Amino acid sequence: MSKPEFYCVGNWKMNKSPAQAAEFISKLKEQAKPEEQSRLVVMPPALVAFEVAQQLKGSSLRWGGQNSYFEAAGAFTGENSPQILKEMGAQFCLVGHSERRQIFGEADDLLAKKVQALQGMGITPILCVGETLDDRRWNRTQEVIVRQTRGGLQAADPTKPMWLAYEPVWAIGTGEVATPLQVEEAHSILRKALKEWSAQTANEVPILYGGSVKADNARSLAGINNVNGFLIGGASLKVDDFLSIYRLSASPAAV
Ligand code: PGA
Repeated sequence: MSKPEFYCVGNWKMNKSPAQAAEFISKLKEQAKPEEQSRLVVMPPALVAFEVAQQLKGSSLRWGGQNSYFEAAGAFTGENSPQILKEMGAQFCLVGHSERRQIFGEADDLLAKKVQALQGMGITPILCVGETLDDRRWNRTQEVIVRQTRGGLQAADPTKPMWLAYEPVWAIGTGEVATPLQVEEAHSILRKALKEWSAQTANEVPILYGGSVKADNARSLAGINNVNGFLIGGASLKVDDFLSIYRLSASPAAV
């Protein structure tokens, strides 16, 4: 059983035109060394994914979808097919990002089907969990993130790749970062929940931290036990910021 490597995943959300995406990828290919490239993942909006997939050819950079439905094809207007994502070369897909849960009303049972479908398709799901500010104020953080993890993984196959991302909702896009102690606690709770799910493979599941990760907090966050990578929103939109976060996290501060 090997310890997971450190990864940086850039969640572009609903940003970048095809031209901007192409410019980003060509700069990233130029600046990131091959061994760095293999630890970086970009998540473009679905409409830009084709352009990104073309630009990434010949590099070790990888990409993923931000969302996918659980059916492969059919009468599901406006949805993204996991089968098409696979054919286009996606290796990852976010599941249950807090914006999907909060704005689009996605709940654990639906997310469990998405995780199962993506694994079945050979795409690594990145299941996102995280508490709101109210949950934290009322001491419900543990209950919420364990429930979301169990719920999202209820139909998952422990023998197939799966990643987890802890993103406290109050830290997303707010400039507010969880303290090292809060991150350490949450990640250790999640590792325990993963062990209940699959004692054999729990240690192989990378657990990413997300929520206002920037160059100035990357080193201290990367040094925290059970933090195996970052899911980065705002600071992943510029190549320089994205790459410097990765490089800083490769030499984490002792905490
Ligand atoms: P942020 O977003 O880095 O802009 O806070 C993180 C995310 O939503 O994945």
